[in-house]
Amino acid sequence: MKGREDAWQVVTEFTKNPNLIKHMLAVEAAMRAYARELGQDEERWATVGLLHDFDWEIHPTLDEHPIKGAEKLRERGWEEEIIRTVLSHYPAGTGVQPAALVDFALAACDDITGLITATALVRPSKDIRDVRLKSVKKKWKDRSFAAGVNRQEVVKATDQFIAAAGPPLASWDLWRHIDFVLQAMQGIAAALELDGRLA
Ligand SMILES: [Fe+2]
Ligand SMILES: [Fe+2]
Repeated sequence: MKGREDAWQVVTEFTKNPNLIKHMLAVEAAMRAYARELGQDEERWATVGLLHDFDWEIHPTLDEHPIKGAEKLRERGWEEEIIRTVLSHYPAGTGVQPAALVDFALAACDDITGLITATALVRPSKDIRDVRLKSVKKKWKDRSFAAGVNRQEVVKATDQFIAAAGPPLASWDLWRHIDFVLQAMQGIAAALELDGRLA
Protein backbone atom coordinates (compact mmCIF):
# COMPACT_ATOMS: atom_id res chain seq x y z
CA MET A 1 0.00 0.00 0.00
CA LYS A 2 1.20 3.47 -0.87
CA GLY A 3 1.69 5.92 1.95
CA ARG A 4 3.11 9.22 3.08
CA GLU A 5 6.51 8.86 1.42
CA ASP A 6 4.89 8.00 -1.92
CA ALA A 7 2.68 11.06 -1.52
CA TRP A 8 5.77 13.19 -0.93
CA GLN A 9 7.35 11.83 -4.15
CA VAL A 10 4.23 12.70 -6.14
CA VAL A 11 3.90 16.16 -4.57
CA THR A 12 7.51 17.13 -5.28
CA GLU A 13 7.34 15.70 -8.79
CA PHE A 14 4.38 17.88 -9.80
CA THR A 15 4.72 20.92 -7.54
CA LYS A 16 7.54 23.44 -7.63
CA ASN A 17 5.80 26.34 -5.87
CA PRO A 18 7.14 26.22 -2.30
CA ASN A 19 4.00 27.87 -0.91
CA LEU A 20 1.80 25.20 -2.41
CA ILE A 21 4.05 22.50 -0.97
CA LYS A 22 3.86 24.21 2.43
CA HIS A 23 0.06 24.29 2.14
CA MET A 24 0.01 20.53 1.65
CA LEU A 25 2.43 20.02 4.55
CA ALA A 26 0.19 22.15 6.76
CA VAL A 27 -2.88 20.11 5.86
CA GLU A 28 -0.87 16.92 6.43
CA ALA A 29 0.08 18.07 9.93
CA ALA A 30 -3.54 18.87 10.80
CA MET A 31 -4.76 15.55 9.43
CA ARG A 32 -2.07 13.62 11.27
CA ALA A 33 -2.97 15.34 14.54
CA TYR A 34 -6.66 14.61 14.06
CA ALA A 35 -5.99 10.95 13.23
CA ARG A 36 -4.12 10.69 16.52
CA GLU A 37 -6.85 12.56 18.41
CA LEU A 38 -9.58 10.35 16.98
CA GLY A 39 -7.75 7.03 16.99
CA GLN A 40 -7.75 6.82 13.19
CA ASP A 41 -5.12 5.59 10.72
CA GLU A 42 -2.44 8.26 11.01
CA GLU A 43 -0.49 7.22 7.90
CA ARG A 44 -3.61 7.28 5.74
CA TRP A 45 -4.85 10.63 7.05
CA ALA A 46 -1.42 12.20 6.66
CA THR A 47 -1.12 10.76 3.15
CA VAL A 48 -4.37 12.27 1.85
CA GLY A 49 -3.60 15.58 3.55
CA LEU A 50 -0.24 15.81 1.84
CA LEU A 51 -1.50 14.54 -1.50
CA HIS A 52 -4.76 16.45 -1.93
CA ASP A 53 -3.46 19.39 -4.04
CA PHE A 54 -0.54 17.64 -5.75
CA ASP A 55 -1.95 18.49 -9.21
CA TRP A 56 -3.03 22.09 -8.54
CA GLU A 57 0.09 23.49 -10.21
CA ILE A 58 -0.38 21.42 -13.39
CA HIS A 59 -4.21 21.68 -13.27
CA PRO A 60 -4.80 25.16 -11.89
CA THR A 61 -8.50 25.32 -12.72
CA LEU A 62 -11.38 23.72 -10.94
CA ASP A 63 -12.61 21.92 -14.04
CA GLU A 64 -9.32 19.97 -14.04
CA HIS A 65 -8.32 19.87 -10.37
CA PRO A 66 -8.54 17.36 -8.79
CA ILE A 67 -10.32 15.21 -11.41
CA LYS A 68 -7.35 15.00 -13.76
CA GLY A 69 -5.03 14.49 -10.84
CA ALA A 70 -7.12 11.52 -9.78
CA GLU A 71 -6.49 9.92 -13.20
CA LYS A 72 -2.76 10.28 -12.65
CA LEU A 73 -3.03 8.66 -9.23
CA ARG A 74 -5.01 5.79 -10.74
CA GLU A 75 -2.38 5.23 -13.45
CA ARG A 76 0.21 5.03 -10.70
CA GLY A 77 -1.68 2.43 -8.77
CA TRP A 78 -2.98 4.52 -5.88
CA GLU A 79 -5.72 2.93 -3.86
CA GLU A 80 -9.24 3.90 -4.93
CA GLU A 81 -10.19 4.84 -1.38
CA ILE A 82 -7.40 7.43 -1.18
CA ILE A 83 -8.32 8.79 -4.61
CA ARG A 84 -11.95 9.08 -3.51
CA THR A 85 -10.96 11.19 -0.49
CA VAL A 86 -8.86 13.48 -2.71
CA LEU A 87 -11.83 13.86 -5.10
CA SER A 88 -14.17 14.61 -2.20
CA HIS A 89 -12.33 17.82 -1.31
CA TYR A 90 -13.97 19.49 -4.28
CA PRO A 91 -17.43 17.93 -4.56
CA ALA A 92 -18.79 20.75 -6.74
CA GLY A 93 -16.38 19.77 -9.51
CA THR A 94 -15.97 16.05 -8.98
CA GLY A 95 -19.45 15.06 -7.86
CA VAL A 96 -17.81 13.04 -5.09
CA GLN A 97 -19.36 14.03 -1.77
CA PRO A 98 -17.43 13.61 1.46
CA ALA A 99 -18.63 10.40 3.11
CA ALA A 100 -15.92 8.93 5.33
CA LEU A 101 -14.65 10.74 8.45
CA VAL A 102 -11.29 11.32 6.76
CA ASP A 103 -13.09 13.17 3.92
CA PHE A 104 -14.82 15.52 6.36
CA ALA A 105 -11.54 16.09 8.18
CA LEU A 106 -9.79 17.04 4.94
CA ALA A 107 -12.54 19.49 4.02
CA ALA A 108 -12.40 21.06 7.49
CA CYS A 109 -8.60 21.39 7.56
CA ASP A 110 -7.92 22.55 3.99
CA ASP A 111 -8.75 26.26 3.78
CA ILE A 112 -8.26 27.19 7.41
CA THR A 113 -4.53 26.47 7.13
CA GLY A 114 -4.40 29.40 4.68
CA LEU A 115 -5.85 31.85 7.18
CA ILE A 116 -3.48 30.62 9.88
CA THR A 117 -0.45 30.94 7.58
CA ALA A 118 -1.50 34.46 6.58
CA THR A 119 -1.92 35.39 10.25
CA ALA A 120 1.60 34.14 11.04
CA LEU A 121 3.07 36.04 8.10
CA VAL A 122 1.75 39.43 9.26
CA ARG A 123 3.40 39.02 12.64
CA PRO A 124 6.74 40.84 12.87
CA SER A 125 8.39 37.63 14.09
CA LYS A 126 6.88 35.58 11.25
CA ASP A 127 6.92 32.73 13.71
CA ILE A 128 3.77 30.63 13.89
CA ARG A 129 4.68 29.61 17.42
CA ASP A 130 3.90 33.20 18.49
CA VAL A 131 0.39 33.06 17.02
CA ARG A 132 -2.45 32.68 19.49
CA LEU A 133 -6.02 31.72 18.70
CA LYS A 134 -7.05 35.28 19.59
CA SER A 135 -5.08 36.70 16.65
CA VAL A 136 -6.54 34.18 14.22
CA LYS A 137 -10.02 35.05 15.49
CA LYS A 138 -9.40 38.73 14.83
CA LYS A 139 -8.21 37.99 11.31
CA TRP A 140 -11.17 35.68 10.75
CA LYS A 141 -13.52 38.56 11.51
CA ASP A 142 -11.70 40.88 9.12
CA ARG A 143 -13.24 39.61 5.89
CA SER A 144 -10.78 41.52 3.70
CA PHE A 145 -7.89 39.62 5.29
CA ALA A 146 -6.99 36.44 3.37
CA ALA A 147 -10.24 37.06 1.51
CA GLY A 148 -9.77 33.88 -0.53
CA VAL A 149 -10.58 31.86 2.57
CA ASN A 150 -14.34 31.43 2.36
CA ARG A 151 -15.42 31.68 6.01
CA GLN A 152 -18.86 30.31 5.31
CA GLU A 153 -17.43 27.21 3.66
CA VAL A 154 -15.02 26.68 6.55
CA VAL A 155 -17.88 26.92 9.05
CA LYS A 156 -19.92 24.43 7.07
CA ALA A 157 -17.05 21.97 6.63
CA THR A 158 -16.12 22.23 10.31
CA ASP A 159 -19.69 21.64 11.48
CA GLN A 160 -19.93 18.59 9.24
CA PHE A 161 -16.62 17.22 10.47
CA ILE A 162 -17.50 17.70 14.14
CA ALA A 163 -20.87 16.02 13.59
CA ALA A 164 -19.27 13.11 11.71
CA ALA A 165 -16.67 12.61 14.45
CA GLY A 166 -19.40 12.21 17.06
CA PRO A 167 -18.67 11.93 20.81
CA PRO A 168 -14.89 12.60 20.75
CA LEU A 169 -15.51 16.11 19.37
CA ALA A 170 -18.97 16.59 20.90
CA SER A 171 -18.13 19.78 22.77
CA TRP A 172 -16.00 21.25 19.98
CA ASP A 173 -16.75 24.36 17.98
CA LEU A 174 -15.11 26.30 15.17
CA TRP A 175 -12.57 27.98 17.48
CA ARG A 176 -11.48 24.77 19.12
CA HIS A 177 -10.96 23.31 15.66
CA ILE A 178 -8.94 26.32 14.51
CA ASP A 179 -6.84 26.17 17.67
CA PHE A 180 -6.21 22.47 17.08
CA VAL A 181 -5.06 23.07 13.49
CA LEU A 182 -2.91 25.99 14.67
CA GLN A 183 -1.16 23.76 17.21
CA ALA A 184 -0.59 21.05 14.61
CA MET A 185 1.01 23.63 12.31
CA GLN A 186 3.11 25.02 15.16
CA GLY A 187 4.54 21.53 15.50
CA ILE A 188 6.07 21.77 12.01
CA ALA A 189 7.04 25.47 12.11
CA ALA A 190 10.42 24.80 10.47
CA ALA A 191 8.99 22.80 7.55
CA LEU A 192 6.49 25.62 6.98
CA GLU A 193 9.33 28.19 7.21
CA LEU A 194 7.20 29.91 9.83
CA ASP A 195 9.89 29.66 12.49
CA GLY A 196 11.10 33.24 12.25
CA ARG A 197 13.53 32.79 9.37
CA LEU A 198 11.48 35.08 7.12
CA ALA A 199 11.49 37.97 9.62
FE1 LIG B 1 -7.66 21.54 -3.88
FE1 LIG C 1 -5.82 22.52 -0.38
